[in-house]
Amino acid sequence: MAINMKGKSLVEIQDLSLEEIYQIFELSSALKLKLYSGEPHKLLEGKTLGMIFAKPSTRTRVSFEVGIYQLGGIGMYFGPNDLQLKRGETIQDTARVLSRYLDGIMIRTFSHQDVIDLARFASIPVINGLTDLHHPCQVLADLFTILEKKRTLRGLKLAYVGDGNNMAHSLLQGASKVGMDISVATPKGYEPLKDIVNQAIENAKYFGSKVEVVESPLEAVKDADIVYTDVWASMGQESEAEERKKIFAPYQVNPDLVKYAKDDYIFMHCLPAHRGEEVVDEVADSPNSVIFDEAENRLHVQKAIMALVM
Ligand code: CP
Ligand code: NVA
Repeated sequence: MAINMKGKSLVEIQDLSLEEIYQIFELSSALKLKLYSGEPHKLLEGKTLGMIFAKPSTRTRVSFEVGIYQLGGIGMYFGPNDLQLKRGETIQDTARVLSRYLDGIMIRTFSHQDVIDLARFASIPVINGLTDLHHPCQVLADLFTILEKKRTLRGLKLAYVGDGNNMAHSLLQGASKVGMDISVATPKGYEPLKDIVNQAIENAKYFGSKVEVVESPLEAVKDADIVYTDVWASMGQESEAEERKKIFAPYQVNPDLVKYAKDDYIFMHCLPAHRGEEVVDEVADSPNSVIFDEAENRLHVQKAIMALVM
């Protein structure tokens, strides 16, 4: 059954039903094949995507911009100093003005509330390209990558080791929606937000999967099909980086830790990686690592999202 998603915003994974998630994956797969076989797929001819970036980006910027071009549209990049937002124009007014010119907005910023407000006041779809609380496009690309590698999502175990940050939050929502067990290991004081853990526990009831937050990385990684990590200090937390290096040292993903995962486990990281901190080269560059497939799939999955909502 096809679901009409035109006009829908993607603020967090929780906004999507299970059916919508699988619809995105089906179209991602089809668009990936079309790109590989050189078949045109200009589903958004003449449409314009505005891309607002208050934080730096390699993957999100390039994959959205290339993606909209491949779909026949154009992308307009707005950096941290480009819009009147910088001089105090409200999110509400920005949303209403941009809706008169554009067909969709992708935004990467600090405050998650700003993206909620942008989506509420815009009459065009708003796609969250990362906030301090969520990174839904990354997790959709990650789940799609897992599906490609493992042929299934339901019944797998994902271990997330490190900071209870935006990635942990979106992975909690995403894994629990699709029926994967998720075990998050963080040091005390760095756990994911309780409300989001509770959402995941609620989601997990549908398939009867497990959601847990533990302190021991070994406990999380035991028998995992997927071992996931992210930087210890996210964008905006640079001043805490040195302190965090000490606190998170026991959470490094290295050969001693991954030996507790299943033999055919896959290693994932949203990137950018701080090699030698949260992960070492022996793991990131091992045959189990799928980090560059994840990065590539940002392109295919976001093209599917844009084509469905714009
Ligand atoms: N994973 C990710 O969002 O990367 P960028 O910060 O480079 O966009
Ligand atoms: N947690 C990281 C993810 C980067 C893609 C950050 O917010 O900086």
